[in-house]
Amino acid sequence: MLVVSLWSNAMLQTSSSSPFPPSANSSPIPTGTCWLTIPTVVGNPGLNRSGLSTMAEHLSQSELNYPFKLLEYFNGFRMSKVIFSACEQGVFDLLMQSQKSLSAAEVAWKLGASEDGMERLLDALVGAEVLEVELNQGTGLFIPAYYSNTDVANLYLAKDSPKSLYDMIIYQSQTIYPLWNNLGDAVREGKNQNEKTFGLSSEDIFSAIYRSEDEMLKFMGLMNSSWVIDGHDVVTAFDLSRFKSIVDVGGCSGALARELSKAYPASTVTVLDLPKVIQTAQKHFCQSDDTIKLQEGDFFKDDLPAADLYVLARIIHDWKEEKSLPLLRKIHAACNSGGGVLLIEAMLFENHRGPIMAQLFSLNMLLQTEGKEHSPSHYTHMLNGTGFSDVQVCRTGKSYDAILALK
Ligand SMILES: C[S@@+](CC[C@H](N)C(=O)[O-])C[C@H]1O[C@@H](n2cnc3c(N)ncnc32)[C@H](O)[C@@H]1O
Repeated sequence: MLVVSLWSNAMLQTSSSSPFPPSANSSPIPTGTCWLTIPTVVGNPGLNRSGLSTMAEHLSQSELNYPFKLLEYFNGFRMSKVIFSACEQGVFDLLMQSQKSLSAAEVAWKLGASEDGMERLLDALVGAEVLEVELNQGTGLFIPAYYSNTDVANLYLAKDSPKSLYDMIIYQSQTIYPLWNNLGDAVREGKNQNEKTFGLSSEDIFSAIYRSEDEMLKFMGLMNSSWVIDGHDVVTAFDLSRFKSIVDVGGCSGALARELSKAYPASTVTVLDLPKVIQTAQKHFCQSDDTIKLQEGDFFKDDLPAADLYVLARIIHDWKEEKSLPLLRKIHAACNSGGGVLLIEAMLFENHRGPIMAQLFSLNMLLQTEGKEHSPSHYTHMLNGTGFSDVQVCRTGKSYDAILALK
């Protein structure tokens, strides 16, 4: 088996649970792992993709006896829909509000659903270990069943929980799911499927994403809910306390800016986004005790405010390099001396063989945008090419990672 490590001599770890940087065939990288990259050595980002992919990406041998994992993959969309439908129908909210566990008939009656359909949905959620069930003694074949939320359902699936992922689920169900129905065409054509799925031009991606006020709110809700679970980790991946003025470029609802403000109370944090996004953020996402500022602007067309640190969370992955490189150059020019840029993205492994979540996100970018996910060395290359240096990479081990570079 031939293994090539782009990382050998290329990365110095600044802190890690492992003494070694990830090699090209490494399975999951240790969590909370950061490297200081040496720009002159981190070179051609295509090097490790040159057909040297003999490392095992095949399913385990046991699948030959029976394809358990394959069948699980085939049925993945069904499982997603079970969660999505239960969320959309308010199952988790009802069970959270209820003082006692409820029968399928009670849930169906309260939510205006069929008893048979609801019972099957609730049973599938029990099978998925998202709900719990108590079985009472019955007569004959009838065993009364009473359903309740698990702690996980209360925490993440009920709408009113402070850690609710409800908005993420609604967007996945109503926008991402129909887009993924056109994955085959996206792969064949190599372009997003906004036109085929929603009848909108595939050129201006944010006109498509913000095609109605309702869609804009749903998208902003999706963006917002990611940072409920990932925000703290990405803003504390590095100590950013020395940056006294921070601009979250394309900061959307302000969720990440609030996390920054919480972690660095001595810094001012400004969200810069398109006027209609800022207005919607003011109307729907602002909190009475907000410490963040909101500023309208177009990061491609307008001057950027001077700042010590620019945060670009899930921005670079939206665009072709002919747009993202000039944006990074513009940020470098506006940045105060001694300042920097923090990219937050789901990073691919160097050899592009994982993590599966980043690979799926990259396909999602194909379906919805003009961009893609990249590896650490690719981001390093982009940052060095636009004037930044001292690039440090931190994998959080969760959905999103952080890359800090200095002016
Ligand atoms: C994928 S979202 C990321 C949002 C946010 N950074 C986050 O991670 O939650 C991209 C953001 O860039 C904003 N955006 C797109 N084009 C922009 C432009 N030309 N000027 C300013 N913001 C823009 C969008 O409105 C959106 O909020």
